[in-house]
Amino acid sequence: MTEADLPTVMAIERATFPFDAWSEGMMRGELGDQPRTRHYVVAVVDDVIVGYAGLAAAADQADVQTIAVLESHQGTGVGGAMLAELLAEARRRGAREIFLEVRSDNPRARGVYERFGFEEIGLRRRYYDDGTDAIMMRRKLDG
Ligand SMILES: CC(C)(COP(=O)(O)OP(=O)(O)OC[C@H]1O[C@@H](n2cnc3c(N)ncnc32)[C@H](O)[C@@H]1OP(=O)(O)O)[C@@H](O)C(=O)NCCC(=O)NCCS
Repeated sequence: MTEADLPTVMAIERATFPFDAWSEGMMRGELGDQPRTRHYVVAVVDDVIVGYAGLAAAADQADVQTIAVLESHQGTGVGGAMLAELLAEARRRGAREIFLEVRSDNPRARGVYERFGFEEIGLRRRYYDDGTDAIMMRRKLDG
C-alpha cells in the first residue's frame, strides 16, 4: 500500500467499519512507518483495489493490524490471500508468533483466522466501544 492508494483504501475502510473506521491520519501514520515496523498490502482485482491488510512487526512478535475486503469480493479468497502474505512477511522479519484481535460477533473473520491456524488465547471483555468482546488469537510461526 502506498499513499496513492489511500482514497480507495479509506473508502473501503469506511464502508466496512461504519462505526469504528480508522481516520485517514491513522492509516497515513501506519504507512509512514513502512518498511521499518509495518507492512501494508492491497489486493487488486481487474486493476481495482478490493482489499487491504496491515502487519506490525517488532523483534520476534507481529500483529495483524487490520484487514478488510470490499463486500462484493468477500468470500472469494482475497482475505485469505492477504493473510497468507502477512504471515509470510512476519516470518521473513523473524517473528515467531503473530497476534490479532477480532470481534466476538464476527464469525466470518474468526473462521478465516482459524483456517489459518490462529488459536484463541484470551478474551477482552467489552473491548469495543459498543460493548462487544474482543477475542485474542495467536498463531505460532516457528516450525
Ligand atoms: C474477514 C475478511 C477480511 C475475510 O476476507 P474474505 O476475502 O472474505 O476471506 P476469504 O474469501 O479468503 O474466506 C472467506 C470464506 O470464503 C471461502 N472462500 C475462500 N476462497 C474461496 C473461493 N475461491 N471461492 C469461494 N469461497 C471461497 C472460504 O472458505 C471462507 O469460508 P469460511 O468463512 O468458512 O472460512 C472479510 O470478510 C472482511 O473484510 N470482512 C469485513 C471486515 C472484517 O471483519 N475484518 C476483520 C476484522 S478483525
